[in-house]
Amino acid sequence: MPIIAPSFLSADFLNLQKDCDLINNSSADWVHLDVMDGRFVPNISFGLPVIEAVKRGVNKTLDVHLMIEEPERYAEDFRKAGADILTVHYEACRHLHRNIQQIKSLGMKAGVALNPHTPVHVLDTILTDVDMVLLMSVNPGFGGQKFIPQTIDKIRALKHMIKEAGADVLIEIDGGVTLENAPAILHTGADVLVAGNTVFRSADPYQTIDLLKSM
Ligand code: DX5
Ligand code: ZN
Repeated sequence: MPIIAPSFLSADFLNLQKDCDLINNSSADWVHLDVMDGRFVPNISFGLPVIEAVKRGVNKTLDVHLMIEEPERYAEDFRKAGADILTVHYEACRHLHRNIQQIKSLGMKAGVALNPHTPVHVLDTILTDVDMVLLMSVNPGFGGQKFIPQTIDKIRALKHMIKEAGADVLIEIDGGVTLENAPAILHTGADVLVAGNTVFRSADPYQTIDLLKSM
């Protein structure tokens, strides 16, 4: 069964308690938290105090996706705020190997994210060091965008690389995931589905999470 990670970028910021309850009482596995700095991506979302609050409200895994430059400056703070998984962008890390080791030494699972234009082969030499690869299936920065179809080929290629390396690495797909495209994404080899708009803009978020989970 896939891991389902609703993205709080589409949550109701005036009533996060309600959406924390949704995570706790639904079949969601993780909560996905998008941190943006207005530099690496054109948008600014939320930061440490919000993560800390969500940690108090949610009893499931906090999957923190950093869309920020120099993530190494903040890794320890995100650990303290409650992150269980910390994902940094390949494109934002000059010393990716060091950053991954830092995240793991702080006691978190380490993920690396790739923008849509970045080929998966750049991870060849780091694959066995990471716990998860996040493939962006939209350009990072905003929720509610359309899934980029080339992502399917990237999932296939990455799955092959993981197998060849005998590595234990999850593939997470982030951006434009819908009830319509989720089956193909999972069938190609994804393990984790992030879903923002699909969950939070649906008439029945509980049922939508159930549907994703049962695919
Ligand atoms: C985009 C974020 C995503 C976003 C996905 O930069 O990384 O996690 O919340 O939103 P949807 O599922 O609405 O495309
Ligand atoms: Zn994300």
